[in-house]
Amino acid sequence: MDKKSKIQTDRLPKHLAIIMDGNGRWAKQKGMLRAFGHENGTKAVRQVVEGSAELGIENLTLYAFSTENWNRPKLEVQTLMKLLVSSLKKEIKTLQDNNIKLLAIGNLDELPKKARKELNEVIEKTKDNSRMVLTLALSYGSREELINTVKKISIKVKNNIISPENIDESVINEHLYTRNLHDVDLLIRTSGEQRISNFLLWQIAYAELYFTNVLWPDFTKEHLYEAIIEYQKRERRFGKTSEQIN
Ligand code: IPE
Ligand code: IPE
Ligand code: MG
Repeated sequence: MDKKSKIQTDRLPKHLAIIMDGNGRWAKQKGMLRAFGHENGTKAVRQVVEGSAELGIENLTLYAFSTENWNRPKLEVQTLMKLLVSSLKKEIKTLQDNNIKLLAIGNLDELPKKARKELNEVIEKTKDNSRMVLTLALSYGSREELINTVKKISIKVKNNIISPENIDESVINEHLYTRNLHDVDLLIRTSGEQRISNFLLWQIAYAELYFTNVLWPDFTKEHLYEAIIEYQKRERRFGKTSEQIN
């Protein structure tokens, strides 16, 4: 039986988040420059975007560039930003053909003007698509997001729009960049690293974590199916006992 048919479509993660890691090592293994790894990483992006939409996943969030990644060599940062622009230009068709809506989260003001413009164009063009929401985390850091959230709520408290007693989980959720998205059900990280690297700290509170040694440019739909099959074997107890769940 092929992997895809082993997936139970009524028990899919509603929100799948992926830390796409290992482009640099992939290139190095081939004796190539890191940029070559990033270029090939875009193929894996298409694989998971199409694969997730075909399965019926509602939210897919991809960690494409972290607030910490600004500290990489200038040339690499430039390459990544150029690649973002060219991928957006190229993949708009994939998004439209698959009825996918694009969103972006992060400190987007930090992005080069050209990238921001291209991003806004694709977001605008795909805003009425409804099959899946694809969110790119760009210049994203969870701590930056939380600081931003605290600031927004504080201003509302100051202006008597919210009273401190009424601040609960839903108020926080509504002020995060990820408002309107489900909590993360499954978090995948490639390349063998087992850390979160400042990604969606609040949103992964009860996510299942899946780590694989596959380097990002090698990641295919089959690897996606493997991760989901593994996810569906887990018992999500949310603090309850196994007996309460079954
Ligand atoms: C992930 O691959 C892409 C980004 C972080 C932008 P890396 O570039 O981190 O690849 P490694 O970890 O050096 O192999
Ligand atoms: C995390 O990968 C960020 C992205 C995948 C965009 P890194 O490669 O930057 O993470 P660390 O620095 O190894 O933790
Ligand atoms: Mg890395």
